[in-house]
Amino acid sequence: MAEVKENSKQKQPSTKKEEVVIAIKGLKKSFGEKHVLKNINLEVHRGENVVILGRSGTGKSVTIQCIIGMLKPDGGTVKVFGDDVAEMNEKELKELRIKMGFLFQSGALYDSMSVRENLEFPLTRVLKIKDQAEIDKRVEEALESVGLLDAIDKMPSDLSGGMRKRAGLARTIIVEPEIILYDEPTTGLDPITSREISDLILSIQKKQKTTSIIITHDMECARIASDRVVIMNDGEYLAEGTFDQLHKSKDKIVGSYFQDIL
Ligand SMILES: Nc1ncnc2c1ncn2[C@@H]1O[C@H](COP(=O)(O)OP(=O)(O)OP(=O)(O)O)[C@@H](O)[C@H]1O
Ligand SMILES: [Mg+2]
Repeated sequence: MAEVKENSKQKQPSTKKEEVVIAIKGLKKSFGEKHVLKNINLEVHRGENVVILGRSGTGKSVTIQCIIGMLKPDGGTVKVFGDDVAEMNEKELKELRIKMGFLFQSGALYDSMSVRENLEFPLTRVLKIKDQAEIDKRVEEALESVGLLDAIDKMPSDLSGGMRKRAGLARTIIVEPEIILYDEPTTGLDPITSREISDLILSIQKKQKTTSIIITHDMECARIASDRVVIMNDGEYLAEGTFDQLHKSKDKIVGSYFQDIL
């Protein structure tokens, strides 16, 4: 990784002692002749929010798919809670995905189910909860925490883009995952709604002590939600640091992400 010098000097040594929840080492992934991930290295510590920035097509979503075991790396390893994801069988992957929630860009709600039914689904199907009172309580709490309790009986088609995103977020957090992977959580939303979603990501981290990777093109989201930012370029990580450290970087490519930020 071509480190940005001034940033590596400022790195916080304290993170060394913290538990590594996601460890990516020398990750490589190609599709035919297209070498998308060439050498990705990243450690995410318990309770940390890491934002990944990078131009379209640099392999950010491919990285997430390698973390959840949907794609197998061609080289290197992805370990979650110390276990190599590529080595896991179906049962182990299923167990891992209970601890690791993800929020896809579309919100991925089931269109034929109401908001309530969408949220009940992971409780009954994944956690196998049978007690209706507990189900009701958890659905209401999750919707309350994303400010969507009023829409509990609405169908997804009746929701705005921001509301769908909130409902998707409620469905992700309802099983209380230890890790949440967000792929462009604010894309397609207006600046005010984007800000609300970014604030929610931050409040979920604080309240549920989750560890997260957030892929975004939204610099305001990166500023609000990140403890640390990494920039991906040409299949490798170009730089990492806090938002403010990277903001001050003299590197041309790093600077290009921050050119409109005051
Ligand atoms: N299953 C696949 N088969 C073939 N090529 C793929 C596959 N998945 C991704 N790619 C290619 O890998 C490259 C990286 O894709 P990826 O979706 O990870 O980009 P990204 O960084 O998430 O971009 P964006 O910011 O636009 O979402 C792209 O060129 C894409 O076409
Ligand atoms: Mg993507």
